[in-house]
Parts: sequence; C-alpha cells; structure tokens
Amino acid sequence: MPPINAHVSSLGGSPIRALLALAQDPNVISFGGGAPASESFDVDGIGKSYQRVLEEHGARALQYSSTEGEPELREAIAARMTHNGLHSEADDVLITSGSQQGLGLVGQVILDPDSIVLTENPTFVSALQAFALSRAQFRPVDTDSGGLVPEALEAAILQYQPRAIYLIPTFQNPTGVTMPESRRREVADILARYNIWLIEDDPYSELRYDEWTMTPISADPRLRQKSLYLGTLSKVLAPGLRIGWIRGPQEVLDTLATTKQGTSLQTSTIDQLAAVDWLTHNDLDAKLVPVRAEYRRRRDAMVQGLDAVLPDGYTLNTPMGGMFLWANLPEGFDANESITDAVQAGVVYIPGAQFYVADPRPSTIRLSFVSNPVETIAEGLERLGTIFR
Ligand SMILES: Cc1ncc(COP(=O)(O)O)c(C=O)c1O
Repeated sequence: MPPINAHVSSLGGSPIRALLALAQDPNVISFGGGAPASESFDVDGIGKSYQRVLEEHGARALQYSSTEGEPELREAIAARMTHNGLHSEADDVLITSGSQQGLGLVGQVILDPDSIVLTENPTFVSALQAFALSRAQFRPVDTDSGGLVPEALEAAILQYQPRAIYLIPTFQNPTGVTMPESRRREVADILARYNIWLIEDDPYSELRYDEWTMTPISADPRLRQKSLYLGTLSKVLAPGLRIGWIRGPQEVLDTLATTKQGTSLQTSTIDQLAAVDWLTHNDLDAKLVPVRAEYRRRRDAMVQGLDAVLPDGYTLNTPMGGMFLWANLPEGFDANESITDAVQAGVVYIPGAQFYVADPRPSTIRLSFVSNPVETIAEGLERLGTIFR
C-alpha cells in the first residue's frame, strides 16, 4: 500500500465511540453516549417538515446550495442566539454539519502546527480529536466547582502564549459544571486583554432544569473579534439532522467557509430547509418543556440510585442541566479496569481518564442520565452495583 499521512494515521480514534459500539447490544444498558432520548424526537413533525419542504421548494431542496447555509436557517439561528442573550445577525452565522464539523473547521482555520490550545481538564474528547488534526498541543487550566479558575487562566496565558482557549461553560461535557455569571465576566475581562481566540462550545445550555439562563461569554462586545461560538440542534431537536453553526467575525467566517468548501461543499440543502421549516411551524421552547421535565426526573433518579451503587467515599456532581453526571470513586478504583466487568454485567459507563489532557484520574466516571427511562436507569444501576460494591 502507498503511504498515507503520517500524522493523521498516528492519531487514535475516540475510545468512547469504541465503547459505544459495545453498547449496541440490546441487552446492554448504556449510560455511555451523549444521545438524547429517542422518544423526545418529533418524528411526525420532522416528517411533515420534510414533506412540506419538498412540496413548497421542490427541486431547490434537492439542489446544491451555498456553503454558508440556507439564508432562512441562518436567520432563524441568529434570532435564537439573540433570544438567548448573544446578539447575532444572519451574516454572523456559518451553518455546519453538526458542531463537530464546526470544531474541525475552527481547528483547521485558527491553529498552526504546535499552536497551544488551553482547555478545561477534563474536556470533550472529540474537540481534542478535531484540534489534534491540526497538530495542536493542549495545556490544562485549573477548574473548580465553578468551572475555569480565572487566576489560573491568566497564569496559563502568560506561561504558554496560547493561540486559543476551548471552553464549554454551560453544563460541561464531561463534568456537568456551569460557570456562574460573575466568573464569566472575569474570564471575559482577562480574554479581552490578550490576543487569543475563545472557542465557546455550547450544545447543552437549552437543556436546563432550573429557571435561569446563562449568558454566553461570547456576548461580551470586547470579544466580538476574537470569539468563535458553536451551537447545534443535536441536543434539542435531533442529532441525526446534523445541523450546527459557528458564530464569529466576518473575516474568519469567510475563511471557515472556504475551508468547508474544501471538505464538504455544503451542509445538506433539504436537511437545512427541513430544520428551518420545523423551527417556523413549531415552538422549540414549548417542545423543550416536557423534555426538560423528563430529563430532570431521570437526573434525580440516577443521583438517588447511585448512592446505593457507588463505593463509600465517592463524590458526585449534580448538574443543573445537560446530560452528564460525573463521579469520582475513592482512590484506588480504576474505572478503566472495571468497564470490562460492567459490559459483561450488561451496563456501560465511560471511564473518565480519557477526558483529561493532563494528569488523568482513573477513579472518575461519566454517566449519561438522559438516554434511558427511569425504570431502565434503575435496572442499569443494579447491574452497576454488582461491579462497584
Ligand atoms: C461539548 C460538545 N461539543 C460538540 C458536540 C458535537 O455535537 P454535534 O456534532 O452533534 O452538533 C458534542 C456532542 O456530544 C458535545 O458534547
């Protein structure tokens, strides 16, 4: 076989995806992936949207279209961000095929080989995968129960001269932690003083189980020319649609668009039109009311159930939204070792060590509480109890 790119072939795949492949077995209960509850999908409504799009737009829906995205969808996304405290115009938005494509494009466009990217530690593994394609290097910034520690951020900027910082400030993956408003302002104050990119990844903020909203850090006007904010319909509508977006400064959106041309030309025309049709004919906020209530129930069931399952001395983050519980088992537990037994017992969690860019803690685990109904959660926890107790 002729050679292939040495750097890319040296990168491993996501260990999480490999674990999730195991969870395809219908007898296995998965607390693994970040998949929304399938019952929450509006199958009828989305079906009607596809039908209406074909009736109303005909061939347009099946034709090539712009790299930046369908104008109506960019408009609707900008309106939604504005509604959520991040003032945006349609021109500020580049539609992507899921925010994962957005992360890949951002990595290609703003990073050079050996550029340093600061991250929360632990953080979302697939963002690391995306940035690693550009040969980025990662440096952790200290976090606590309020997310990134501002003093540590400033120290890391001075020490490492990073090109960018990648943050998930709301219902972080994997820890579920949310950065309070006051700290967002402190982080913005620091970022405003330095010439680095903020990559703000925000897939989960609409899955909140309390009555507050958090303003994106990117809403600070001083960061307008240095922030790239990523959103997605995956967690609120359906991940199979593959509709995400990047909001950023015009000059960089142009380069992101030419980079997208080089990899995928465009996001599916019909999928974009169906998404905006759904958003026009339905009320996303109303749709999310029962979803949030059910996810809250599932979160509470898992938090309560885990007490009888996890070994004495564990700690657990109970997030105010999103999809994940993050547990730290007592010193000496190795979640990587016990995952094989767990799969044999018919239950999957994600060992936490793989989310770290430095100093991995083998005693940590991530559990998704949204994907299974309460009864299945109870059954899965019982199986988990045979491993941890
Ligand atoms: C933090 C974070 N960013 C991005 C994504 C990618 O989402 P999608 O490509 O489906 O929009 C995910 C999915 O789990 C995620 O957890």
